[in-house]
Amino acid sequence: MTKDLFGKALLDYHSGNYTADIMTSTNISEEDELPLPYLFRDFNDMPKLEQKALKLAKGTILDVGCGSGSHSLYLQSKGFLVKAIDISVGAIEVARKRGVKHAELKAFLDETETFDTILLLMNGTGIFQELSEVGKYLKHLKSLLNPGGQILIDSSDIKYMYEDEDGGIWIDAHANYHGELDYYLSYKGEDETPMKWLYLDFETMNLACETAGLACEKVMDGENFDYLAKLS
Ligand SMILES: C[S@@+](CC[C@H](N)C(=O)[O-])C[C@H]1O[C@@H](n2cnc3c(N)ncnc32)[C@H](O)[C@@H]1O
Repeated sequence: MTKDLFGKALLDYHSGNYTADIMTSTNISEEDELPLPYLFRDFNDMPKLEQKALKLAKGTILDVGCGSGSHSLYLQSKGFLVKAIDISVGAIEVARKRGVKHAELKAFLDETETFDTILLLMNGTGIFQELSEVGKYLKHLKSLLNPGGQILIDSSDIKYMYEDEDGGIWIDAHANYHGELDYYLSYKGEDETPMKWLYLDFETMNLACETAGLACEKVMDGENFDYLAKLS
């Protein structure tokens, strides 16, 4: 069970109690700040990849892992019908308070409605958790698409995180896939239960889509080895 520290942080920020940021680290990287205002970004403060995804959205939309609802709110303001889901109690409470009309506490694999656009943003492959689960998640994504529908998802090739000062890469060929990370989060001195978080390079995504019977197209590259893909 998680302590929902992510949700607590969102609730604090939303209610004007912003005194600390979320701290994150992984099994291959040092502690890093995740500034709470970033989780409440509006369109102009979003990375180009996310702006592009929002511009491509059409029809009925599912925002998976909506967090505080930033993407849903933008799309709602453009007149789209949006459903936002998240497994964080705090995130859903904040999304509703911010005005997301249809926000539900629900894990992605429990979703059953179908949509024209499914959005998974801010390393959307993270919720797949590990490489061996990708097929299952892609299959479920496919089952939630209306005819002609699209999935817009971002991720990155984190090979660069394994680079040493001399530019050498120290990925162990016998270890698990290099995008599988153990992810640690803490907030105000409390530690969250460790999570698995998956980064998927485009080639691996492409192959997995082929197996799942989805067409996979790179829409654009981001600034940090990241990319936006469209699956249909
Ligand atoms: C990195 S945050 C991104 C939040 C938001 N999309 C944004 O860009 O600000 C990932 C979100 O996914 C949610 N999440 C993780 N696993 C999930 C799952 N299986 N189903 C639904 N939401 C999930 C987390 O609770 C968290 O709010």
